[in-house]
Amino acid sequence: MLERVLSLRSRTTQANSEEDVDDESKTRKTLSLTTRFLNQLTKTNFLWPSLFFFLFLLITSIAIHSRNIVCDVSSTGLIHSRFNFFGIDGLDSEFGLLGVPWCRSKHGKTVEWTTKDLIKGIEEFVPVYETRPIKNNMYGMGFDHSFGLWFITRWIKPELMIESGAFKGHSTWVLRQAMPNTPIVSLSPRHPEKYLKKGAAYVDGNCTYFAGKDFVDFGSVDWGRMMKKHGVTDRSLVLVFFDDHQNELKRLKQALKAGFRHLVFEDNYDTGTGDHYSFRQMCDQFYVRGGGHSCFKDGDEARIRTKRRMFWEKAVDIGELCGEGEAWWGVKGQMRDDFNHSNKAISYNEHFQNSRFVESVLDVYWELPPVAGPSLTHQTRYDPARVSSPIVEDGRFGLFQRLGLGSLETSVFNGYTQMVYLQVSKSSS
Ligand SMILES: C[S@@+](CC[C@H](N)C(=O)[O-])C[C@H]1O[C@@H](n2cnc3c(N)ncnc32)[C@H](O)[C@@H]1O
Repeated sequence: MLERVLSLRSRTTQANSEEDVDDESKTRKTLSLTTRFLNQLTKTNFLWPSLFFFLFLLITSIAIHSRNIVCDVSSTGLIHSRFNFFGIDGLDSEFGLLGVPWCRSKHGKTVEWTTKDLIKGIEEFVPVYETRPIKNNMYGMGFDHSFGLWFITRWIKPELMIESGAFKGHSTWVLRQAMPNTPIVSLSPRHPEKYLKKGAAYVDGNCTYFAGKDFVDFGSVDWGRMMKKHGVTDRSLVLVFFDDHQNELKRLKQALKAGFRHLVFEDNYDTGTGDHYSFRQMCDQFYVRGGGHSCFKDGDEARIRTKRRMFWEKAVDIGELCGEGEAWWGVKGQMRDDFNHSNKAISYNEHFQNSRFVESVLDVYWELPPVAGPSLTHQTRYDPARVSSPIVEDGRFGLFQRLGLGSLETSVFNGYTQMVYLQVSKSSS
C-alpha cells in the first residue's frame, strides 16, 4: 500500500510539473496580449473609462456573490454555499469555541482499534450493508451507526448479544451479520414480525424476543435466569445495545447492576437535542473544553449557533439550548426520558453529580466518528463542528469511492447521533 501511495505521489508530482510548464507558457501568451490591448486603449483614450467599468463589474459581482452565501439557505445552492461558507478551515476554528464534550474514563484507557482498522472495516461492511433486508429504515439506524454496531460487535466477539429497541429489526440484522452464530435477546414493545405485514422487516431465528405481549423492560428482566439459559458464566462477555430512547443514566445503572460491561448507545444526543438524557449531555461540563455554555443572547456562542443553525438542521441556537434561568444542561435544563414522555427539571448541581458518577464507572468512552466528512456524504443534519473528525476526512474523495461509500444513497448518512461504546465497571469507592 505504501508503494502505491508513493508511486501515486510521484505520478502526481510529474503531472503537476507538466501542468506548470503549460501554465507558464499560457501566462506568457496572456501577458503579451494584455500589454498590446492596454497600449491600444491608451492610444484611443479609452483607458480610464474602461478601468471604471471593470471596477463597477467587480463590485457588483462581489455583492451578488455574498448575498447568495447568506440568503440562499433553502435553494439548491445550499450545499454549495454551506461548504464555501465554512470550508474546512472554518470548521476547525469554530470547533474550538463550541467544543466537543466527551466523558473522561477512570484511567484514561481507550479502545484498541485504530483508524486503519475502521477503514478496513468500512470496506468490508459496505457490501454487507447493501444486502440489508430493510432498505428504507427511516426512524432506525442509517449507515454510520450500522457500521459502528457491526464493527464494535465483531471486535468484542460477545457470547451473548442483548438489544433494547428493535423497531423493524434492522439492528438485530446488523448484530447477526457481525456474529452469525451468537444468540441474541431482543426487547421491544412491538414485535418486529408485526411490521412484516406492511413491508420489509427482520425476524431472527436464534433470538429470544421479549416483545409484543411478552415485552419486558431491560430493567425488569431476570438476567440471572437469562444467563443460565444461554450458558453464560461471565457477564463481561455480553454486549448490550440500547436504541430504546430511555434516559441513559438509568440504563447505565441497570446495566451495572446486572454486571454487564460492554454497552453501546445509539442515540448519544448532543446537549440541547434529543428525547432522552444522554452521555454527551451528561459529560458536557464546564471543565470540558467548550462545555459550560453561554446563554448570553449577544455573546459569541449565540452568534455562532445562529449561523450554524441556518446550515445544519440539527444544530441548536441559544433559544433552543437554554431554558429558564439560563439552564443549558440536558435539554433546557431537563433530564428527559422515554421518548420525552417524561422530562424532569434538574439543577446544575444534580447534572454535575450525574457526570461525576458516570465518570467514576467508565473504563472506556469512545464515540464512533462519522464515517465520512459532509462534503463527501452531503449530509445536511448534524453540525460537523460538534462531532469528532470523520473516519474518511473531507477532501479524500478517492478513498470514499474506493471504499464503496459513493455508491450508497445520500440519505443513509443523515442519521448520525454520536453512537457511543462504553466499557464500564462499578466504582471502587
Ligand atoms: C429508534 S427505534 C429502534 C431502531 C432499531 N434499533 C433500528 O436500528 O432500526 C426505537 C425502538 O424502541 C422501542 N421501545 C420503546 N420503549 C422501549 C423500552 N422501554 N424498551 C425497549 N424498547 C423500547 C420502540 O418501540 C422502537 O421500536
